[in-house]
Amino acid sequence: MFNKKTIRDIEVSGKTVLVRVDYNVPMKDGKVESDIRIRASLPTIEYLISNGAKKVILISHLGRPEGEKKPELSLKPVADKLAEVLGGSNIRTLAGLTPAVEFVPEVFGDLVKSTVDGLVEGGIVLLENLRFWPEEEKNDTDFAKAIVESTGADVFVQDGFAVIHRAHASTDAITKQIPAVSGLLVEKEVSVLTSAISNPEHPVVVIIGGAKVDDKKPLIDKFLPIADKIIVGGKIAADGYAAESDKIYVAEDFNEDETGAKLDIGTVSTKKILEEIHNAKTVVWNGVVGLTEKHPFDMASRTIARALGNNKGITSIICGGDTTGFVEGLQIAEPELSYSLISTGGGASLELLSGLELPGVTALENK
Ligand code: 3PG
Repeated sequence: MFNKKTIRDIEVSGKTVLVRVDYNVPMKDGKVESDIRIRASLPTIEYLISNGAKKVILISHLGRPEGEKKPELSLKPVADKLAEVLGGSNIRTLAGLTPAVEFVPEVFGDLVKSTVDGLVEGGIVLLENLRFWPEEEKNDTDFAKAIVESTGADVFVQDGFAVIHRAHASTDAITKQIPAVSGLLVEKEVSVLTSAISNPEHPVVVIIGGAKVDDKKPLIDKFLPIADKIIVGGKIAADGYAAESDKIYVAEDFNEDETGAKLDIGTVSTKKILEEIHNAKTVVWNGVVGLTEKHPFDMASRTIARALGNNKGITSIICGGDTTGFVEGLQIAEPELSYSLISTGGGASLELLSGLELPGVTALENK
């Protein structure tokens, strides 16, 4: 149950709305490599604009510039990409136009103020990378105030699911300045992930892969009393993970390269996983089970992704950066694969599923 107010619970018509998104997207040679997080923000933007929001101001971070203005981490290319994505969408202002997108290389001050003032109805502004200012990560109240005052925002919307596990100025301090509610992405991700740990439909199967056992141990511990089966694959299994319960199945055979390195789980283990998926009602998958960037060691992960994506009768949750990237890559060639949730937040989903509190959610108004 999601007990926070969302944009559906408030009046947005005629309002200037400040939205925290997570546009921390992969960049290469100054260009956006994947627009997945940009597209994930569209439902909220569409809702606001089609319900008559006067202006939409977007704020985000990109990378870890550590309080310094690093040109290669400017959000300008992301603004260009957003304009391109909006152009290809059917989102229209009340006047029937594709929303204009303006970029401002500041997050507060006169330039922000004048750009927002000059914006057409239903227009969008993306401000510069919040983390160019050290105050962002310090959760500084004056910094949050300056953003709100310069933008003239009436309401704050949290839709940056991937950053919701951080207590920063744009996830926490800012919520103390103006009414703060959830966007549709945060609502969806938190609801689906929370129900996987609070009232999932059984049998529940959790597939854990990846390389670092320390990263995944809290997830295994959290799901031990919840899941019917936990499957451990990937490098963790290849390195000899010792199951502490008979509920845990550790991959038992591996495909090796010419040096004998175990780079993927083998056919016996894959078959076992497929049987579990076949009987499951809820599957949470965090961590690929092989070295997916090196063919053919992506084979078992591909097989799992297909089995889940073709099984429409189950709740399938894909989380963790490597797993979501892999599954989304596969979906480009096989668009028929569909999942209940492909989480946009690696660290955030892991913390939520491990039972930790998410400061960016706690800070929002209760229903
Ligand atoms: C992410 O990509 O996981 C989020 O944007 C959070 O980024 P961070 O780990 O630098 O806070």
